Amino acid sequence: MCCRYDVDAVRLSTSINDDIKSYINSNKNSKIYVLRPDQKPNLWGLRYLQPGKDLFDTRRLRSAMDYARVRKCPHEIRLIRHANVVTASAHRAVLRALRSFDNEAQIQATFLSTCVANDAKHQAYEIIAASGENASILHYIKNNESLKGKQLVCLDAGCEWDCYASDVTRTFPISGSWSAEAKEIHDLVQEMQSACIERIRPGARFRDLYVLAHQIAIKGLFRLGILHGGTESEIFQAGTSMAFFPHGLGHHLGLEVHDVSGYEPLMSSKVHESWHVPQVEEGQWASQSRHGLEEGMVITVEPGIYFSEYALSHVFLPSPIHSKYICRDVLQRYLPVGGVRIEDDILVTADGYENLTRAPKGEEMLRIIRGEDTDSRLEEPDVVQERYGRKN
Ligand code: GLY
Ligand code: MN
Repeated sequence: MCCRYDVDAVRLSTSINDDIKSYINSNKNSKIYVLRPDQKPNLWGLRYLQPGKDLFDTRRLRSAMDYARVRKCPHEIRLIRHANVVTASAHRAVLRALRSFDNEAQIQATFLSTCVANDAKHQAYEIIAASGENASILHYIKNNESLKGKQLVCLDAGCEWDCYASDVTRTFPISGSWSAEAKEIHDLVQEMQSACIERIRPGARFRDLYVLAHQIAIKGLFRLGILHGGTESEIFQAGTSMAFFPHGLGHHLGLEVHDVSGYEPLMSSKVHESWHVPQVEEGQWASQSRHGLEEGMVITVEPGIYFSEYALSHVFLPSPIHSKYICRDVLQRYLPVGGVRIEDDILVTADGYENLTRAPKGEEMLRIIRGEDTDSRLEEPDVVQERYGRKN
């Protein structure tokens, strides 16, 4: 077991007291790091103990463990890579069958069954199969509504492989063809994502990419006439683009889908103090980090543009700060688009990045929906052979 999981020793929790005592006996007065105060053992009867000296540090182990998890080793990268291979196969299966579906539940079922059939028994998070405006509910998991009358599906789904996550989102037209408005929004989100991914390299700051994504979004929404009445800079300063792109740009990926960052997480997803918007989400969004990216990190890049009637009518349109920048008439035409998110898993390499995501996007995605591309190969990296001695 120690070899498989790369730990030095495993003991029963019932013997922890004695184990730590014997460790202290042979490593006199060295510091012992535990996660919580209740993990400190009772050291009664121990010789060698300096009176008044606390051997235990209950503060630093958690952040040291987190920091050690941030840069992935080659073995971890192979596991994430393989999770992505299976996930891509499941995304393809959904695209191939999409035109025969009439409910979101069938999308979820096909994704899940393809993963399980490829030996990936666990999802990294609950599948999001959101049609129409449901795409603007960021963690929509009901997945039981009819597809009738909807333009798009936003499928955010990724399996685990040996406990390591993949996290992939694609948004596609149910008919296999975009409406004019859906294509404009999908092209814009793709532009935001490509521009951010191209800039990934060691030292690049993820929060700068987050700002870049907002600037591209504002320029694009301006071009389409959805934003108006001010300069791009004024709209950026007001934070009005949060009406359409309300979450972070991405997060670390590893043992958790929102993996630890190794730094104190900031509490707000707002990057600019001037932004007059509610604090939408808390958590491990890498967009918050003021630190540079490092080789070996695996992060997601997942911009989106959403048309949430609820957020617009309850927060942004009633606000004098934002409403003057949003054109209600043009907005009406885009509400049926619902929302578009595109998400890839990116490895930071020594001189740039590698995109680990294999799920189809762009024209290839449409060809599969339309039945014009029947390639269903499951690429198989060597990790499967290593584990099972087989090749599909
Ligand atoms: N794909 C799920 C998430 O990032 O929250
Ligand atoms: Mn994600």
